[in-house]
Amino acid sequence: MFKTQNISVLKHNPEKLDNFVRTENYGDIIYLLRKLGKLSPDFDQSPLLYLLKKDNDNVRYLAVKNLAKLSNPSLIGTYKELLKSDSSAKVRRESVSAIGRLRKKESIPILIGLLDDYDPEVVLQAIRGLLVFKKDNLVKNELKKLSEHPNEIVRVVINKEFNNNHNNLDEKTNHTQSPEFMKNVVVRGDVREIIKYAPDESIHLTFTSPPYYNARDYAIYQSYDEYLKFLEDVFKEVHRITKDGRFFILNTSPIIIPRVSRQHSSKRYPIPYDIHPLLIKMGWEFIDDIIWLKPESSVKNRNAGFLQHRKPLAYKPNACTESVMVYRKKTDKLLDWNIRQYDWDVVNKSRVNEDYETSNVWKIDPVFDRTHSAVFPLELCNRVIKFYSYIGDLVFDPFAGSGTFGKSALSLNRYFFLTETKPEYFERIKENINQKMLSENYREPTFLDLKTFISNTKRK
Ligand SMILES: C[S@@+](CC[C@H](N)C(=O)[O-])C[C@H]1O[C@@H](n2cnc3c(N)ncnc32)[C@H](O)[C@@H]1O
Repeated sequence: MFKTQNISVLKHNPEKLDNFVRTENYGDIIYLLRKLGKLSPDFDQSPLLYLLKKDNDNVRYLAVKNLAKLSNPSLIGTYKELLKSDSSAKVRRESVSAIGRLRKKESIPILIGLLDDYDPEVVLQAIRGLLVFKKDNLVKNELKKLSEHPNEIVRVVINKEFNNNHNNLDEKTNHTQSPEFMKNVVVRGDVREIIKYAPDESIHLTFTSPPYYNARDYAIYQSYDEYLKFLEDVFKEVHRITKDGRFFILNTSPIIIPRVSRQHSSKRYPIPYDIHPLLIKMGWEFIDDIIWLKPESSVKNRNAGFLQHRKPLAYKPNACTESVMVYRKKTDKLLDWNIRQYDWDVVNKSRVNEDYETSNVWKIDPVFDRTHSAVFPLELCNRVIKFYSYIGDLVFDPFAGSGTFGKSALSLNRYFFLTETKPEYFERIKENINQKMLSENYREPTFLDLKTFISNTKRK
């Protein structure tokens, strides 16, 4: 078995190293190549060159990776040859990266020649290498041609480098602020009417659970298409009023519409999967898929038939999960930019210092409400607010139901904005939110009809 202390001996003894790579098995060679660490410019490269002829992709890839550490311009020809003839994507990608690392003007034509490579990772590595010379007019022009490249990451990188209009935006908006007339406000009415009066980029976070198509009685749609169109309209507006680079978190799950009679089957609708492409198209970037896991005993039992007959095809698992899909308003700004907009004191007070869930499976018991049939557990809202907003932010739930999200926002020193169409749920929100102790510096929640809300927006 190969010993770790041998690495240093081999690294400093070219003959031993040469013998080792010619006689040892791939496992040990790979181990050595991974552990070689920094290499001095006078390191004997011939054992590494010998490994480039081996039939193991990993060995060739790691050999290139180590050769690149030598920053030796005379290896350009070797890398070019690998790019032309090696069958492994990993080896080709590492070769272009090695050329880029040389930071030599003579690499420019080679890197430009790779901008139409069939592998987008090779193109990206070539871009990385060329960006060092982006002031050179030839390089700039060649890179700009990629702004319509079929690969989305290539397009984003090029547009960020050459069409950067951050400064305008930074001056225009104050990222941490939000309109006073929306703070701790609940409006009764159809969200599609209300949201029109919310200014662009006015909220920091949305968390919502929309109606479950026609599975519950609080909303009725003529067809599934009409339902999806309704959600699309609302979420486009949510996108408009969300601040740059901030989050939209959507809780949904597939639903089942029971069969009409024994002669028919029930129908299952995969709501999360059907909404996802609509969200991407309107400019949300997919970030994470969190699973809300409930105890099996708390959900409807669909197993009774199968338990008896055990006939394949008729298996029906109990649905103990819901999706909590996390999206970010598409931007070329990094999350660091969003965080930097806050004062140090706010960042410090907003830190999540307690134990927290590290996986994407959130085990939370459902809760039941005397008025509303599908309420968020407070714990679910608390996690979303703590992980995805800062103290003093304005958070929104367009389908507020009993107002759980608002209650959570108040207790965690965020402002809420809620809309709910049904009068009985609107009344439930009043009870729910007024039960809460208001924290210091917080304004009294207000409960408005659409007309009053509209007149408040005009007074702003
Ligand atoms: C799944 S429930 C949300 C429950 C909520 N998360 C809670 O914790 O109580 C969806 C809510 O959306 C409301 N709703 C349906 N259509 C609406 C619309 N067009 N505008 C505003 N609210 C609507 C329903 O009345 C229902 O209360």
